[in-house]
Amino acid sequence: MIVAANFKMHKTRKETKEYLKKLKSINFEDIKVRVFPPFTALFEDELIGAQNGYPAINGAYTGEIGLEQLKEFNINKILIGHSERRNILNESQEFIAKKFEFFKKENFEIIYCIGEPLEIRKKGIKEVIKYLKTQLIGIDLNYQKLIIAYEPVWAIGTGVSASIEEIKETHYEIRKLTNRPILYGGSVKLNNIEEILKVENVDGVLVGSASLDVKTFKQMIQIA
Ligand code: G3P
Repeated sequence: MIVAANFKMHKTRKETKEYLKKLKSINFEDIKVRVFPPFTALFEDELIGAQNGYPAINGAYTGEIGLEQLKEFNINKILIGHSERRNILNESQEFIAKKFEFFKKENFEIIYCIGEPLEIRKKGIKEVIKYLKTQLIGIDLNYQKLIIAYEPVWAIGTGVSASIEEIKETHYEIRKLTNRPILYGGSVKLNNIEEILKVENVDGVLVGSASLDVKTFKQMIQIA
């Protein structure tokens, strides 16, 4: 079971350190907990991963950080393909696949995100899977440190998660493509995490806004 927190562009370094301290006051040995703070809050900790990284050791890539910077904090986990990077930062599948390849070679644990927009969901599961497959082009689905996160775009930050039925059918289809763990993300809250985690082929959750409050996130871990 994996429970991951994506802070997105929230929290300072000081706040993140306090958060981690509080988080570790509970025992979660059987659960893989991951925390993805912003770049400025990265520090060496077995729970911490990066929300992004440029696929190069270093170089002339203004505004980016690469392997050299991540290594300074012994970071070996990364989020790739998040819908906000695909849609707001216009990352192409080709570029995302390049990132995947780079960080795979560096042996990173990769939480690789996929998810369809609402207009595709409305067309039904067949179209959803067809769409998700386009987001898996160039991705080695057998990579031993790969974790898939299914995050329907219309459920992210909206307060409306996918229904249990939608999660079930989608994870079932993704399972046919890979044996790696599959997380669900998109408006996971304290009041729905339990039933979501019970769904077949759901191996954990990737939590955005609800993870920002450490008390809430701790409760979520306890439920898992
Ligand atoms: O990566 C997690 C995410 O996109 C879901 O965000 O705020 O809907 O839990 P949220």
